[in-house]
Amino acid sequence: MNTLFRGAVVALIATTFAAISLSAHAVDEPSVERGRYLVQIAGCNDCHTAGYATSNGQTPESEWLYGDLLGWRGGWGTTYAANLRLSLSRMTEEQWVVFARNLQSRPPMPSFSLNAMTETDLKSLYRFVRQLEPLGEPAPSYVPPDQEPNPPYVTFPAGPPAE
Ligand code: HEC
Repeated sequence: MNTLFRGAVVALIATTFAAISLSAHAVDEPSVERGRYLVQIAGCNDCHTAGYATSNGQTPESEWLYGDLLGWRGGWGTTYAANLRLSLSRMTEEQWVVFARNLQSRPPMPSFSLNAMTETDLKSLYRFVRQLEPLGEPAPSYVPPDQEPNPPYVTFPAGPPAE
């Protein structure tokens, strides 16, 4: 092998290892950017940001995750998507990971999606939500199935009964 060729091979190997360690780093480390991405693709805004779904996702980030007054009514009663800025501001990152892993909510909250997230993704979600200001009002309280909620609410045709 001549020296020039050997040098090129070494450089190629070094670049490959640098690329591998860079991508491993990107996946392993929690980040605000990944949290923002997860909030967008996992549908959190669809329910936890008023008007997000009906505006085709045009709501600016400064208005994300304040919760919503829209009720979700079914066999379980009527639920309201929480103000996540306030919810997460009451927990440390470690508490959030345990909370999210064990969360069992009433419909239509997909708590099974949160339960399945990796620790890195949960921490990324936390870091993104925590750098939004912890402002706004708490969402309305849960209304049991035998009580009439205040409008507006969406009615599901069926659903599991309240526990
Ligand atoms: C289809 C609507 C919907 C989607 C999508 C949704 N949520 Fe929810 N979420 C709700 C509702 C409704 C509740 C209240 C459930 C209850 O009262 O049991 C809730 C509750 C929660 C809670 C509990 C809050 C507290 O203070 O107890 C957390 C945390 C949460 N959601 C996070 C998320 C995250 C993160 C995402 C995205 C991965 C998400 N939600 C997607 C509707 C939704």
